[in-house]
Order: sequence, then structure tokens, then C-alpha cells
Amino acid sequence: MSTSLLIRGASQILTVGGRAPRRGKALDDVGILRDGAILLRDGVVSAVGPVTQIEKLKESKAAEVLDLDGRVVLPGFVDAHTHLIHASSRAQEYELKIQGVGYEEIARKGGGILNSVGKLRAATSQELKARARLSLERFAEYGTTTIEAKSGYGLDLTNELRILSLHKELDSEQPLEIVSTFLGAHVVPAEYRNKPSGSRDYLNLLEQELIPEVAENGLAEYCDVFCERSAFSLAESRKVLAAGKRHGLRPRVHAEQLSNTGATRLGIQLGAASCDHLEYLKPADIRALSKSHTVATLLPGCDFHLGLKHYAPARKLIDAGAILALATDFNPGTSPTLSMPMVLSLACTQLRMSPAEAIAAATINAAYSLGRHKKVGSIEAGRQADLAVFEVADYREIPYYFGVNTCWLTMKRGEVIHMRD
Ligand code: NIG
Ligand code: FE
Repeated sequence: MSTSLLIRGASQILTVGGRAPRRGKALDDVGILRDGAILLRDGVVSAVGPVTQIEKLKESKAAEVLDLDGRVVLPGFVDAHTHLIHASSRAQEYELKIQGVGYEEIARKGGGILNSVGKLRAATSQELKARARLSLERFAEYGTTTIEAKSGYGLDLTNELRILSLHKELDSEQPLEIVSTFLGAHVVPAEYRNKPSGSRDYLNLLEQELIPEVAENGLAEYCDVFCERSAFSLAESRKVLAAGKRHGLRPRVHAEQLSNTGATRLGIQLGAASCDHLEYLKPADIRALSKSHTVATLLPGCDFHLGLKHYAPARKLIDAGAILALATDFNPGTSPTLSMPMVLSLACTQLRMSPAEAIAAATINAAYSLGRHKKVGSIEAGRQADLAVFEVADYREIPYYFGVNTCWLTMKRGEVIHMRD
């Protein structure tokens, strides 16, 4: 038995349909329908358009009706950069950061990523899973319906596989789709640090054991590397990404977050799906991105949390024609947020993006960076019925009310997965 649902009464439907990915001026076009309606059948959008047309369809007559009473509908957010699985917060480092101790300095003192690695290794899979489940429920409360999730707090065979296997289990056991990325090259783990050949030995382990094992077991689609002076050099990053590629894992890169390393151009050269962070881009990097299909994924939550004033050059990227996406970078060290609406607020005030640009960057362009733009990221006939409804009369109020969650209802494949009571 097929079930149909007619959604009407929205003050605005932002379809974000049509051309994907969005570049330049097209990023500002979110396809606003004012007197619109959406017809869903079996978890898929079967029609969207003016309410007068949609209501005439035979199928609409038999459909259940959801009246949105003047609220705003968007495609569910696609969060294309998260570190979902970690054992605990790093709230004690938060206080140090506030006192002015730098992110890299904290890491040198044994905090940072290695702190999270120690905690993850000591945690049971049950504990990790329970924590991730809570996070996934919260993602849904903020209107997110698809996430990318990176490993990277295990940094040995057992624990990296444990994280990636949890991604897979969670993907099948709860409604949000999880796209998995292997980030074994997050930093060199502690046990490799005290001998001179340590980082070479760890790279060999990545290349010869971890990457082949991850790929053979179908545990990830992407391979990521943290290319930074305190993590992996450009040459080391090239080795890791090339090894990933040989095993069918497409590159993504943590690039130019704290300094310019050349990682963006390396990513483009290797056909990376996305280069992320990009606070320290050079003009030549911006030109190269604008001529490529590599997405520039900006993560303003990191700069906000770390109290840094140096945000990525979003306007220059948009004006040059690069494909821009936004993500939370949910992680315990630099961006402890699950809220895409908060990221939109930061994009507007700090990156000078318009609310419409920010929404397109957090939906269709993010979906493109995950190779999912034909399934999610827009409200069009044939796409998954992944929707987020906000308790506002105008979409601009979503980022305008910063730190306020106006998400009223979230739907994944036509099922209600969050509803405010
Ligand atoms: O995306 N930059 C590297 N990775 C994370 C931070 C991880 C951490 O500090 O735990 C990021 O910012
Ligand atoms: Fe990250």
C-alpha cells in the first residue's frame, strides 16, 4: 500500500532545486515558492509546485494533509563534515583556550586530538554508540537529515575499524544517513612519537594495513587527511590520499586551517570531493578552486569556538565561482556544535553570506560534496523526502535568531523524526 502526504500552508518553500552545484550568483537562488505545496509518496517527493496545481492531482485528493500554518520548509540540512564518534567533551581545554592558550599549544601539552584518542580507546563500543545516538537525535532536532562522519580518534587498526563499523551500524539502525570517511591521518598517535622514524612508520601502517582493510570491508567512501604543520606535511598528505585513491576512497582534505600548507591545491590535483576549513587560502588557491569541481567546505564554528578572528574568505570564493558548502565540523576540540542553524548565523555575520547563500551551501552544495545531490539537498520530484520545517514566517529568520533553534519538524524519507511539542 502506498501512502501519500500533501504538505501545504507553508509561507515559503525553499526548493533549492535546479542546477547543482550552485556557483557564483546562483548560490543566492533558493527557489522560493510562496503559495506552494509538496506531495510525498513512499518517502519520495512526487510533486512540488503552486498549491493550485498540486491540489488538482488525483493523488492529492486521497492524500493525508499536513498544514504548516505559515511555517517555512527547506530541504533537510546535509552536514558534510563531522567527527561524530568521540568518547567525551574537552571542556577542560575550553577554559585554557579562553585564557589565551592556543589550540596547537594545548595539543603539544598532550591535550588536543591525542586526548580524545586516549579516551576513545578506553571507551566501550556500547558507550560510543550511545553517545553518537544522542548526537544523531540532536542533529535531527536542528533540521539535519544527512551527515558525513569521520573516524580519527582511534588511530590504530582496532579502534579505527571500531569507529567505522559503528558508522555502519548506526546508519542502518536510526533514520539519518551517515556517509563514512576514514581519517586515520588525523595526527601521529602517541606510541609512534618517541622514535625518529615514528611518523614514517605510522604512514606505512596507514598505507599498508589500515587503508586496505577499510576499503576491503567497505567501511568508508572517502579518505581524509589533516594537512597542517602540527599534523601531516604536504608530502605525507599526498602519500595518504594517493593510497586511499588506489583503494577506491575519494580524497577529502582538512586544508589551510591554521596556516597555508598547499593542501588545497594538492586536493584539487587529486580530484578531492572537498577541501575543508580554508581560513588561510591564498589568491591562487581561490582561483584553482573556482576552476575545479572540488567543493570548498567552510566551518565557521571552529573559528567561533576557538575565539579566532580569521574566518575563511567566503565572499571571494563565491565571487570567483567556487562551489561553497557549510558544515558544523561537530567535534570535541574545535567545534562542539550540532546546530546547522547556528552555522548559518555565523556564515551570515562572519562570512558575510546572505541567508539564501548559506542555506544553499548547507543543502544542495553540501549534498554535491558527498555525491548525493541527485538524492538529497533539494525539494524536487524524485528526490528523497528529507525536509526541515521552521517555526518562522520568513527563511531569513532562521539565521537571524542566532543560538535559537526554530526547527519545528524534521522528516527523513517521509518519516517524521523530530517534532516540537
Ligand atoms: O576539524 N583539524 C582537525 N580536526 C578537527 C579537530 C579535531 C580535534 O581537535 O579534536 C577539526 O577542526
Ligand atoms: Fe574536522
